[in-house]
Amino acid sequence: MKPDLKSEIFSNWGEDQSSKFRKDIITVRHKIAQTGLFTDDALAELLDKHPNHKIDVCTMSDHDPQFPNKFLTGDFRDCDGKTLIKAAKAGAVWINVREAMNIHREYKAVLDKMYGAIAQIIGEPMFNARGGILISSPVAKVPYHCDQTETILWHIRGKKRIYIYPTSEEFMSDEAYQNIITQDREDDIPYAADMDDAARAFDLGEGEMISWRLNAPHRVDNQSFCVSITTEYSTRESAFKNSVMFTNAVLRQKFGVKSRWISASGPEKYVKSIAGRILRKVGAYEVPDGEDVVTFKVDPQANSYVAKVDPFVRNF
Ligand SMILES: [Fe+2]
Repeated sequence: MKPDLKSEIFSNWGEDQSSKFRKDIITVRHKIAQTGLFTDDALAELLDKHPNHKIDVCTMSDHDPQFPNKFLTGDFRDCDGKTLIKAAKAGAVWINVREAMNIHREYKAVLDKMYGAIAQIIGEPMFNARGGILISSPVAKVPYHCDQTETILWHIRGKKRIYIYPTSEEFMSDEAYQNIITQDREDDIPYAADMDDAARAFDLGEGEMISWRLNAPHRVDNQSFCVSITTEYSTRESAFKNSVMFTNAVLRQKFGVKSRWISASGPEKYVKSIAGRILRKVGAYEVPDGEDVVTFKVDPQANSYVAKVDPFVRNF
């Protein structure tokens, strides 16, 4: 008999969630904390063994009104895992342990169950998901952004509020989306406070997962020290859209042609999706200089654990 992954992972996934999954916003309660892999001690151990180049420690900037709370990159190499957990609890940092759910056997086993459960519920083959672990300060905020693949936030410890916005052009222009898919380290999009009128806000408690429509812009305000998993996976729909948008980005860059996703016909999108895959392979889009510049270091002696350093290009 197949293991019942649905009840191993979720406690209240019902008909309503099944019918709205990927079409609307859903929240579901989950049991991932029970694995014991997300306690302070387990996370400190994880940070110690995870490769540095797959850890981001950021703080929030406050000087660009169009991109509030934009992340700044920090140097954390002087700190062990325990110190980084302390920094997340008492400082102003946001830590992403990228691909932690894929790289380490014990975490991968949990990721496989999470996606195995979803596959069982919706009756589709299991997605090949990537999962990072987010460890963040009570004052941390994730800036307004959009993910280019299907994303799920599995909140585990603490409280945070997530604002999710409509997918229409007023909330994310085609040009902003093209910037995201052509630049590896960019996913922020311009924000204005009056957009909040159209947002739906959710207060996530411990053990709650939330998922939304592909590409829906969102931002997050922590209310306490938080630990979450973020997972993402490509679907045929997201890969198709991103190939079309890549072609449009190249057309805009090379020929100044502005194409709109919303008004393009099916055949136009189909041709552009094929072109996009080729254009991406041959590197047809010239990526503007976007080096990852380190501007602070995590320092237990500094205010909020954040000490400014002379900027340098990230080399770790
Ligand atoms: Fe996101």
